[in-house]
Amino acid sequence: MRTTETSDLWWKTAVIYCLDVKTFMDGDDNGIGDFDGVASRIDYLNELGVTCLWLMPFYPNGGRDDGYDITDFYAVDPALGSFGDLVELVRTAKDRGMRVIADLVVNHTSDRHPWFRASRSSTTNPYRDFYVWRDTEPPDTSDQVVFPDQEDSIWQLDEKTGEWYLHNFYRQQPDLNIANPKVQDEIAKIIGFWMELGLDGFRVDAVPFLIETKGIRKADTQGYGDPHEHLRALKAFMSRRRGDTILLGEVNLPYKDQVAFFGGTDGDELTMMFDFPLMQQLYLSLARRDAGPVADCLRKRPVIQPHTQYANFVRNHDELTLDKLTDEERQEVFDAFGPEPEMQLYGRGLRRRLPPMLNGDPRRLKMVYSLLFALPGTPALFYGEEIGMGENLEVPGRMAVRTPMQWTSGKNAGFSRTQPSRLVAPIVEGPYGPAHINAASQRKDPESLLSFITLLAGRYRECPELGMGRYEVLDHDAPSVLVHRCTWEQLDGDVASTVLVHNLGPEATEITVTLEGVDGGTDIVDLFSDLELSTESRGRLTVPVEGYGHHWLRIHGPNDRRLR
Ligand code: NOJ
Repeated sequence: MRTTETSDLWWKTAVIYCLDVKTFMDGDDNGIGDFDGVASRIDYLNELGVTCLWLMPFYPNGGRDDGYDITDFYAVDPALGSFGDLVELVRTAKDRGMRVIADLVVNHTSDRHPWFRASRSSTTNPYRDFYVWRDTEPPDTSDQVVFPDQEDSIWQLDEKTGEWYLHNFYRQQPDLNIANPKVQDEIAKIIGFWMELGLDGFRVDAVPFLIETKGIRKADTQGYGDPHEHLRALKAFMSRRRGDTILLGEVNLPYKDQVAFFGGTDGDELTMMFDFPLMQQLYLSLARRDAGPVADCLRKRPVIQPHTQYANFVRNHDELTLDKLTDEERQEVFDAFGPEPEMQLYGRGLRRRLPPMLNGDPRRLKMVYSLLFALPGTPALFYGEEIGMGENLEVPGRMAVRTPMQWTSGKNAGFSRTQPSRLVAPIVEGPYGPAHINAASQRKDPESLLSFITLLAGRYRECPELGMGRYEVLDHDAPSVLVHRCTWEQLDGDVASTVLVHNLGPEATEITVTLEGVDGGTDIVDLFSDLELSTESRGRLTVPVEGYGHHWLRIHGPNDRRLR
């Protein structure tokens, strides 16, 4: 029953694609991307192999944090189209078999949200306790701010009432008071609302901040109990309404703290989490050309409940955060991939996309994306990664990687037919500009990154052992090569097992591994080339690997009927 199991737990073998509606495709040529534009590109995404579309915030907002400062949770930003347009987009995606999830940003609102306007109007307003207030001068919290270039405290004095409100992010993003049952009800209502409109789940913003009670007066946290209970309640609420909806959480914590957000032995909190620790170790491995950091990290990754899942990613819409590396390790990555101060952000990350970091080396780039899809878990792409887009360092801060999608080599990269001065964000210029990097020409080029990633998505879907199975990191003698094996024993007794080989270094080499439980003389088939190997006695397998080479080697048992 392989097919049934993978489709029931669809998120475990999904190909996730994150896009920002306003920079993806402009349907009405006013310079701002819109729902119609995205709908017109659903077939492109379908062809790429996307099975789950993640829409970044599309709600009315205060214009401070690129949509993460919401002024109305029950509406859409009119600049992106109408409610009807969004529903048409969701319907079109579903018609092509795609799930759709959206950002759920309920740790905070915009300071222009009517709740906050009411809350700050007087200490006795019924909405006062929707937010977190203190009446005494706060201590120095400059070491806790998320955006150190903009803020020096997580508390902001509000002149009118002479009290301070909590804001973990920008001061224009006051934190909601999660301990207030009315706020909890509103959050459930928001989730329920978007589920009724057909969303299949949410990417949950800033989860640790959302559930913690930091700053909330002790008296007001009575009755709130264990913060994780709140997450559990939200998940239970969703599952009551529709069992196959997901919560994909942003929890950038070390594994030992992060794993609790899956919900302990029951796995009844977040369905998925981005693997921030692995992503950071991947960059260290790339910088060192040494598979060690990734291998160690995979070995330490907690074993999680079968229905929960890690989402792997190489880049997302924020700075490439390296905050969990040591200062020396971070410096190594900075030296390798972002030595100029203008490439760095907040002292902890890089505001670059991957291809320029790798000097556009196509072999290395393809190896990294092969690894992304081969890692145990679910791959998540950020728009433009599939064609190898670069960043625009002229654009401030994190916005450097949020430039318009490059569709063609023509005017405005085919994103919009408006005048360039009216574009929502400037187009990338130079070697990564649309003249060199665009979807239209890559579609026709079998050697392009787009063609390769399309192939990867297809092979990933054919290998449910990558998303569903257990894995082991295999020992061998070549430090630059990561070898891991994913195995899935299906309900009907069939076993699918694949060995994944990635050389993070430029030198060709050879690895020899022992495959437990595999007899000598077993066929080993490379899913990306004509390479066919066979095991020696006791499952010994020797594999030649090119510099920055990769192999997905399926262990072809006698009963395996999958295509070679
Ligand atoms: C995380 C989001 O990814 C980021 O873009 C945003 O600024 C913060 N959360 C605040 O919502």
